[in-house]
Amino acid sequence: MPACIVLGAQWGDEGKGKMTDYLAEKAGVVVRYQGGNNAGHTVEVGDKQYKLHLIPSGILYKNKLNVIGNGVVLDPKALFEEMGYLKELGVEITPNNLVISDRTQLIMPYHKILDGIKERARGKKDIGTTGKGIGPCYTDKMERSGIRVCDLMHKEVFAEKLRDNIEDKNNIINKIYGEEELNFDAIYNEYMGYAQKMKPFVKETSVIVYDKIKEGEEVLFEGAQGTLLDIDYGTYPYVTSSNTIAGGVCIGAGIGPTMITNAVGIAKAYTTRVGKGPFPTELSDETGEWIREKGHEYGVTTGRARRCGWLDLVILKTAARVSGLTSFAVTKIDTLAGLEKLKVCVGYKFGDKAIDYVPASLEDLAKCEPIYEEFNGWDESIENARSYEELPENAKVYLKKIEEFTNTKVSIVSVGPKRDQTMKISHI
Ligand code: GDP
Ligand code: IMO
Ligand code: MG
Repeated sequence: MPACIVLGAQWGDEGKGKMTDYLAEKAGVVVRYQGGNNAGHTVEVGDKQYKLHLIPSGILYKNKLNVIGNGVVLDPKALFEEMGYLKELGVEITPNNLVISDRTQLIMPYHKILDGIKERARGKKDIGTTGKGIGPCYTDKMERSGIRVCDLMHKEVFAEKLRDNIEDKNNIINKIYGEEELNFDAIYNEYMGYAQKMKPFVKETSVIVYDKIKEGEEVLFEGAQGTLLDIDYGTYPYVTSSNTIAGGVCIGAGIGPTMITNAVGIAKAYTTRVGKGPFPTELSDETGEWIREKGHEYGVTTGRARRCGWLDLVILKTAARVSGLTSFAVTKIDTLAGLEKLKVCVGYKFGDKAIDYVPASLEDLAKCEPIYEEFNGWDESIENARSYEELPENAKVYLKKIEEFTNTKVSIVSVGPKRDQTMKISHI
């Protein structure tokens, strides 16, 4: 697997952090290519738990290179807080194990303010964003007024871009929404402090990643969020503002599609979602509550309770298609032990038709009724299983159904949060 993508196949929180850490053992480089600190990736090693937001999950190994690619939106305050948090847990971060693209867009204080203002203005139609300034920062990138890491490295350039942005943003923040005006000096001084600290980490990362792949080093691309939060293929507008699917890697890391060899979709054995938006297999009953409590389904970034529901194979099939997945890694199958019957969505009833794709229009999606197939559950707890043979027969039937419906093999099964609670059952 010289260049392998690890991406979310559902609505995020599938266990990408855990699987990236697991696969990183054999890799030399781990690259984040989109999103920002809206992500919350949990990695458990030994008796320690690490919550990562912006820094790639390869950081827990010594001597791996971690890359924050150009497609990421970077909040320097959050970056240095995360570095401090990791340092306290004994993880040292230096330019030898972390590099940051000079093309990466910076999240500025006004992006976070605007995220809040926009959400409040949407009222009942709010998206339920993480409030980290992600949408407004990507908006500025596309509008071509964003400030990049390379700008921060040049005082005068940064000052000029900041001045222009403050003038523009104050028109919205102060004149339209009546909130307090932004202060140039305060932001300038704060960011100049970050500039100093960030400088040794800043590199042309596209060249580094390209060279590493050419040298035969194994490179992992760690996705954030998930397929149905993708700006193009997700449940728009209830999505994040980046391309979370495999295509996002080429843009966000600066490599060509022909260099990518594998794409593993991380799929939770059931479905969860945080924030607003449609969710056809959502369980708003005690089974949903049972899954939430057993699976500890509470957000890593915002602490919000995650909505829970049955496994939706229409979503996994979509993920396999739009990202060209070479396999799935199925996580949290241990959580389902104890349920007598399990339902799996194998299509949507849409009018008098049955469809196996997610319609673009939310109005159409709202009319879709999940078509369920029922499976027998298993009682045996499986967190100690370390091989496919040790899994209960009914769990094997469940996994086979995923493979059959999506026409994509399951290469890895995860039965707990820890690194060793993982079994590789075929080539990724
Ligand atoms: P990510 O955003 O995709 O990295 O996922 P999160 O870290 O937000 O959420 C996944 C949660 O499930 C974390 O608390 C993980 O420690 C945990 N986890 C991952 N894989 C498994 C698994 O196979 N079984 C159980 N029980 N927990 C898991
Ligand atoms: P990881 O990487 C789950 C959701 C938010 C909201 C929508 C838009 O841990 O899987 P944003 O702040 O990005 O503008 O919010 O996207 N969201 C996530 N949901 N996991 C995540 O990341 C998410 N990052 C954003 O809840 O619905
Ligand atoms: Mg998460």
